[in-house]
Amino acid sequence: MEKVTRRRFFLSTLAGGVAATATNVCGAIWPNGKAADASLAEPKALQTASAAGRLATAGRRPCIISALNGLHHLETGMQVLRTTGDTMDAVLAVVVPVEDDPNDNTVGYGGLPNEDCVVQLDACVMHGPTKKCGAVGAIEKIKNPSKVARVIMERTNHTFLVGQGATQFAIDEGFETMSLLTDKSRTAWLAWKAATSKDWRPGLDAPDFNKQLAELLDTPERQAWEPWIKDVVAHPPTGTINCLAVNEKGEMSGVTTTSGLAWKISGRVGDSPIIGAGLFVDQEVGGAGSTGRGEENIKIAGGHTVVEMMRRGMSPTDACMEAIDRVVHNYDFDRSRLKMFDLQFYALNKDGAHGAAALWSDRHDGETISYAVHDGSGPRAVACTPKFEGTGGDY
Ligand code: GLY
Repeated sequence: MEKVTRRRFFLSTLAGGVAATATNVCGAIWPNGKAADASLAEPKALQTASAAGRLATAGRRPCIISALNGLHHLETGMQVLRTTGDTMDAVLAVVVPVEDDPNDNTVGYGGLPNEDCVVQLDACVMHGPTKKCGAVGAIEKIKNPSKVARVIMERTNHTFLVGQGATQFAIDEGFETMSLLTDKSRTAWLAWKAATSKDWRPGLDAPDFNKQLAELLDTPERQAWEPWIKDVVAHPPTGTINCLAVNEKGEMSGVTTTSGLAWKISGRVGDSPIIGAGLFVDQEVGGAGSTGRGEENIKIAGGHTVVEMMRRGMSPTDACMEAIDRVVHNYDFDRSRLKMFDLQFYALNKDGAHGAAALWSDRHDGETISYAVHDGSGPRAVACTPKFEGTGGDY
């Protein structure tokens, strides 16, 4: 996977920033129609957004983009776009292998479970040409919720099935059931339970917590998970994959799929299956999707907001930053609370121009928050334009 260094990112944005205009820099629009208070805005971050947006306006078709965890599958999606041109097949070709991958702990099989140690998955799809969509929420035992969402879209006149009904629908349609827990995700859940339960096991601050953890990590393979387990216990992830595609003719599709917030309350559904939040595609404009803290996205209908901003003429990156700005506004620009989560938006317009914005610049492992792009010359990672420097998700 390509490492996006901070130095390279700042060099590329510096070049674009020279060309940024004052109109774009101050262009944030709030839901009440008033411009953002410039004294509260982050001039550096907004300038960066405008610069990246400018660079992104020269789009190419076909083009396919995704959250960074789709990087290694974008080539497959591009092959579909080049051969059949079917954009729904293309986006599913990217996300289904991630759903199948036991090592991606935020999506499908191997996704981290809820507080009851049950994996509940959310997904939705949207097809531009037919203006149709389908979604599933809190589905259990089915590793490919994106495929179930597609079946809902194509074979029913409903758009959204949840819980037991969604699982039963999938079984009736021939999907196989399986346990979605892996040894790794189950062990992580046990560690989380140990860290949070008052009665059941000692907490993280208990004198013998490391002994308890050592008992859980009783093989060399499990011992290697220790740093990761400590990270997901302290910072429950909301990782997800969103993928958007446009073919040579300009037809578009999108998908978002996730195991949602780790350790969530049973039945919690995030933004990923919500049409207009975790995903929105309008054939006349473009598509947008999101990863990160779903509750914050739902409150601003982020996917729809990004597409509407592009309809008004914003570049994909600026439109994504507008959505981030609305979340920041909801928190009265209080960085100490914004620090508690992360959030990213991705956008692709029908001309093949793309962009992304992130609330924070860095992941917990120190990598720059990035997205994956393939517009004909091979898959590559591109830095998301950050609102703030630093790391989110610090509970
Ligand atoms: N964005 C994924 C979730 O919050 O469930």
